[in-house]
Amino acid sequence: MSNKTIAFIGTGNMSYAIIGGMIKSGFDAQSIIATNRNAEKLAKVAEQLSVRTTQDNLEAVAAADVIVLSVKPQMMAELCKTFQDADIDISEKLFISVAAGITVARLREMLGQPVKMVRCMPNTPSLLGRGVSGLYGVDISDEEKDYVEQVFSSTGIALWLDNESKINDVIAVTGSSPAYFFLFMEAIEEKARALGFSTEEARKLVQQTALGAAEMALSQPDISIAQLRANVTSKGGTTHAAVEHLKEQQLPKTVADAMDACIARAEAMEKEI
Ligand SMILES: NC(=O)c1ccc[n+]([C@@H]2O[C@H](COP(=O)([O-])OP(=O)(O)OC[C@H]3O[C@@H](n4cnc5c(N)ncnc54)[C@H](OP(=O)(O)O)[C@@H]3O)[C@@H](O)[C@H]2O)c1
Repeated sequence: MSNKTIAFIGTGNMSYAIIGGMIKSGFDAQSIIATNRNAEKLAKVAEQLSVRTTQDNLEAVAAADVIVLSVKPQMMAELCKTFQDADIDISEKLFISVAAGITVARLREMLGQPVKMVRCMPNTPSLLGRGVSGLYGVDISDEEKDYVEQVFSSTGIALWLDNESKINDVIAVTGSSPAYFFLFMEAIEEKARALGFSTEEARKLVQQTALGAAEMALSQPDISIAQLRANVTSKGGTTHAAVEHLKEQQLPKTVADAMDACIARAEAMEKEI
């Protein structure tokens, strides 16, 4: 697929999802290096994904063209410092960070030089190949852009952003939003139990309905989501009664305000790290 070597530094949940997607979509496992400071976790990755593994981050960085920084945000500075201190030329390597709340400028500062950089904001459904990744790149070639897009398309869909601040908007729209859907599902599930359905029944009913609604939207891309809702909301009917109540309670405004709170938190995090 490509002759680039890519190293994942800190192979936890997110790297595992991306590597799994890459292998399914045809990337050569031998072009992928996974690192983890924990030998047991690394052995599992080697066994399940058949990629190259090492506990030595510097060895992986030296061998790779593309380096994915995938440790928790608060560990990033310490990790990057080890690259700065080592005798490795990183000036021509492409770095990808999946960490929330760390800007390109800050990452470059941590790495000690203005390296080629992509910030990526994936979401948890990437673990199932149903993810969305927002991408923002600086100083990258068209060929590198294509490569990065192939990597992240392997876990779902990838969208390039023309402005770094849009990464925070993506956090509100797709990064954090699985939790908004879960909260809605949770509320329906709780009420179903209150109405007398068993825990098992309530869970099954809510998850099947969420799946059905998502699949209806996916299978009819020419019909707007507002129209899909209107189609199942006859005036004076039962759904209409429920939807009108949600509107009177300002559900759309509450969701918009919640997303603004999410963006404000992402902006504040950028100042903290
Ligand atoms: N999971 C998500 O849904 C999601 C979504 C969007 C963005 N992200 C971002 O993705 C990044 C990774 O998240 P994650 O959920 O995959 O975290 P994770 O499961 O904790 O994975 C990180 C792994 O890296 C290891 N590690 C830490 N420092 C290391 C070092 N210096 N060298 C080698 N390995 C090291 C950790 O080991 P220990 O277990 O010993 O700490 C851990 O196994 C984070 O920056 C997060 O903000 C995650």
